Amino acid sequence: SPRVFSGVQPTGNLHLGNYLGAISKFVTMQHDYPSIFCVVDLHAVTVPQDPKLLKEQTREIAAAYVAAGIDPAKSIIFAQSTVSAHAELAWILSCQARIGWLNRMTQFKDKAGKDKEKASVGLYTYPVLMAADILAYKATHVPVGEDQKQHLELARDIAAKFNNDMNAEDFFPQPEPLIQGPGTRVMSLKDGTAKMSKSDPSDLSRINLTDDADTIAKKVKKAKSDADVLPSEEEGLEARPEARNLVGIYAALSGVSRADVLSEFGGQGFGALKPRLAELAVEKLAPISEEMRRLQNDRAHLDGILMDGAERADAIAAPILRETKEIMGFLVR
Ligand code: TYM
Repeated sequence: SPRVFSGVQPTGNLHLGNYLGAISKFVTMQHDYPSIFCVVDLHAVTVPQDPKLLKEQTREIAAAYVAAGIDPAKSIIFAQSTVSAHAELAWILSCQARIGWLNRMTQFKDKAGKDKEKASVGLYTYPVLMAADILAYKATHVPVGEDQKQHLELARDIAAKFNNDMNAEDFFPQPEPLIQGPGTRVMSLKDGTAKMSKSDPSDLSRINLTDDADTIAKKVKKAKSDADVLPSEEEGLEARPEARNLVGIYAALSGVSRADVLSEFGGQGFGALKPRLAELAVEKLAPISEEMRRLQNDRAHLDGILMDGAERADAIAAPILRETKEIMGFLVR
């Protein structure tokens, strides 16, 4: 039976890319499928985190989920570390995944920096934990941004290898990545060839979900663009990464395609697009950031959502983990 699973790391600076590539998709998908949205704190600690901040940032993602429109009564919202199946299944799956498969993961190469020997083992096996997240619920649909595509392919390979090697045909379903529309790869506002990212030292490179209306408008105004008018066809954006990015953001925020945006703005310059984009971004994001702030002031409420979610998540994952252990030949309690 179909089930949606996805997650966001509680590493601060939640931004427009996270919203357009992932969270906004969660909001629409929850109406069509039973859905589980995780705050992946175990993934966050693959690089050092301040324990006090980690708690706050975990609540921040939960607040963003709810503020964006995920209904915690319907969908499950919880923190990864509160359901032990994730870590347990990750170990079992790490015995299925091959070192050669992990060596091909480009995100590790990007995140580990120059001296790979100094990266944590957790950063290296990160994608195996991600496979465990998904497979612990036998999730079938995984809405993510473009940058997670390779990790999803690995999860599929791990599922297939487990089923095959353990003679457990169709035990784990093949999770399907859902990566659609113009918001799946939002680029930096300062460099159209670099992904918008939580870790970019320049705050002007991204629109944070916590930015107020004035800040959002200022960042759009200051976004890098070029001197040309906008083309009327999408092909005209090919060698213009900044233009392509701003048109893509406009398209994603208004729920249309880049072609639709160009049919409106083709022949006009950024002097026309930017003020409209700023307006649109404020209209869509300011209510979310306001609601996030309100929710973050009510810790007890957020923790209640997360703990209730943990119980419901555990009720799904525990029997699947138990069955997995039986297939492995472990004695089960
Ligand atoms: P994370 O926390 O880095 O990002 C959360 C989600 O936001 C998407 N995203 C973007 N989308 C468009 N443009 C961007 N510039 C951009 N930057 C980030 C990401 O693709 C992601 O969907 N590994 C995951 C978290 C995870 C997960 C999972 C996801 C852990 N377990 C299981 C799905 C299923 C990650 O690093 O997300």
